[in-house]
Amino acid sequence: MKILVTGGAGFIGSHTVVELQNAGYDAVVVDNLVNASPKVIARVEAITGKKIPFYEADIRDREALEKIFEQEKPDAVIHFAGLKAVGESVGLPWEYYENNVSGTLTLLDVMRKNGCKNIIFSSSATVYGDPAFVPITEECPKGTCTNPYGWTKWMLEQILTDLQFADKEWNVVLLRYFNPIGAHKSGTIGENPNGVPNNLMPYITQVAVGKLPQLHVYGDDYDTHDGTGVRDYIHVVDLALGHVKALKKLEPGSGLNIYNLGTGVGYSVLDIVKNFEEATGKKIPYVIDPRRAGDIATCYSSAKKAQEELGWEAQYGIKEMCEDSWRWQSMNPNGYDE
Ligand code: NAD
Ligand code: WQD
Repeated sequence: MKILVTGGAGFIGSHTVVELQNAGYDAVVVDNLVNASPKVIARVEAITGKKIPFYEADIRDREALEKIFEQEKPDAVIHFAGLKAVGESVGLPWEYYENNVSGTLTLLDVMRKNGCKNIIFSSSATVYGDPAFVPITEECPKGTCTNPYGWTKWMLEQILTDLQFADKEWNVVLLRYFNPIGAHKSGTIGENPNGVPNNLMPYITQVAVGKLPQLHVYGDDYDTHDGTGVRDYIHVVDLALGHVKALKKLEPGSGLNIYNLGTGVGYSVLDIVKNFEEATGKKIPYVIDPRRAGDIATCYSSAKKAQEELGWEAQYGIKEMCEDSWRWQSMNPNGYDE
């Protein structure tokens, strides 16, 4: 079975390509490298020992996509390509809607014209907004997003749902990721943020490696066990394996399926700092700052549905997530740059 992976040179995409190849699937990558290094493909090939057809192309480029579909004839698409910086999306809403929404519409049109109606879409726990309840099940109503990035995920879920409702030949899986961290055990691929990281774990690893002086903890007055925000961190390799398992929901007649990909366990910011220090022996100095706009107190999944229907469960705990994030950062202090 051949899988076209859009955004396959990115953080989650590269780890998923490894696991697809390990599981015996043929993976083809399309990425415009707007947020990825051209070095990623060779590093993935070094891990798996298999060649990966790579197309440097933009999913908004219909002509390029048509050529790729004609040449590769994929059976299914795993669609990671998109812009994902929450703060940036507030200042650049048009760019986010155009890239993420228009890009996906073009991709879907090329897919159906080529008779490929199987897609796994990267959605996010952000679609729950401030969740109506925790642990968050898939039945939890979608909420109000606080930024254009979140709305693109919200809207694309709706677009895919409507498309599948109208044409039952489509098989659609919406995967709602919680907070992916960690990296491949080899330490050769990982998360590579541009500039100062927005997310907690890359910020911590950059403090640990000496690139940043201290962590800023955004608020310690939330209604949580220690006042800091609680999230469901998941190892990126577990997340990648969730995609491999989700492929079985692209069998004919599967329809629309939605799964949370999380561990079901919530850790606070200070829990993460403590676990990171214990796992790596590195001290993380921090200061308490005011809350960050748009943040919520608590967000963690119920991982039951994916367990029951996909036979998928996260294997890695917080210790391995911290160790593997640190291995990647310490082996590659400047990410993919020399
Ligand atoms: P990433 O930025 O590392 O990967 C996305 C990839 O898509 C990049 O390699 C980028 O170059 C590529 N891309 C962007 N626009 C493109 C376009 N128009 N054409 C072709 N390629 C394009 O991000 P990631 O963390 O690997 O996230 C992958 C997907 O998962 C994204 O859709 C993201 O929104 C979603 N997601 C991520 C998280 C997270 O915390 N990392 C959480 C939930 C959902
Ligand atoms: C986690 C916790 C912060 C940085 C974001 C997106 C979400 C999804 C995953 C894509 C919070 C605190 C953070 C720092 C801190 N992405 N924090 N100091 O906000 O849960 O989710 O990434 O879909 O849509 O919103 O993740 O890692 O930014 O924050 O104290 O320097 O760490 O306040 O409590 P978040 P995060």
